[in-house]
Amino acid sequence: MSQTLQEIAKAMVARGKGILAMDESSGTIEKRFKEINVENNEKNRWAYRRLLITAEGLGNFISGAILFDETIRQKDADGTPFPEILKRQGIIPGIKVDKGAKELALFPGETVTEGLDGLRERLLEYRQLGAQFAKWRAVITIGNGIPTESCIAANAHALARYAALCQEAGIVPIVEPEVLMDADNTIEVCYNVTNRTLKKVFEQLREFNVRLDGIVLKPNMVVSGKLCPVQADAKLVAKLTVKALKKNVPAEVPGIAFLSGGQSDEAATENLNRINKKFKELPWALTFSYGRALQRAALKAWSGNDANVPEAQKALLGKAKGYSEACLGTYKSTA
Ligand code: 13P
Repeated sequence: MSQTLQEIAKAMVARGKGILAMDESSGTIEKRFKEINVENNEKNRWAYRRLLITAEGLGNFISGAILFDETIRQKDADGTPFPEILKRQGIIPGIKVDKGAKELALFPGETVTEGLDGLRERLLEYRQLGAQFAKWRAVITIGNGIPTESCIAANAHALARYAALCQEAGIVPIVEPEVLMDADNTIEVCYNVTNRTLKKVFEQLREFNVRLDGIVLKPNMVVSGKLCPVQADAKLVAKLTVKALKKNVPAEVPGIAFLSGGQSDEAATENLNRINKKFKELPWALTFSYGRALQRAALKAWSGNDANVPEAQKALLGKAKGYSEACLGTYKSTA
């Protein structure tokens, strides 16, 4: 019998577990491979992603993995499809379904995420291939006079229509409105923009009849822009992140899985740990859906060499364990 949306969503944010984002598009994985001098071809992408999903015991810390279109179709040497390998590890397969953030016409510097056309049909195919949840990332950029309300509204509208299509297909939507942390803004500006964004997103989800107990929210943490001379500490990050969430996220939402957004591994751990240690009475599970912060160490350890696979898997498991502890608020730094 197939699981309900609520059951899947709950399993995605199970206590002490988070989601592995390994859904880099061809362009993004190219950037990551360049950093380790590895050629971006199908064979290397296969080898790298296989390494991640076969790390033994990954399911102790990871509830779900977000795959890219190419990856969900890949198979191990013995013919086992990648989604099946994940299921055997106790990990739910998911799929990125958006087609990327494209320039928003007449709004310089802003983007809107595309991919709604044909999505109903694509979701049916992904379900057949084993996906039980999906992801769509909206990107909100902070800058001079931006984000505009028009950009926030366009992205929130698309997220809601995507989420509705997912639920129609029996797939849990990860709703990801990412406020970028690349600018020189203060944490207060990030707080305001995150607030405006989340408010609009939930307005639109309601408007389009999306069941809020059948989604997982994937927001940014409220942080200082990377180029801001004053960097807020974990205490303030936790306080303002929780404040923005409390203001906007209804209690029916089962869980919130933060993106890492370019935070260092240490910050991604410390901030998540602080949130979970200090705020015990929140209605939702607070976990991670990290890409870079989970993969950075493994990617470097692998560096395109088969002989390094065990080392790379060890690095991945080490990071996953640390973030799992941060979900419980029990992480202790060994540094
Ligand atoms: P990061 O954790 O690297 O931000 O990636 C998460 C993700 O899935 C972005 O869409």
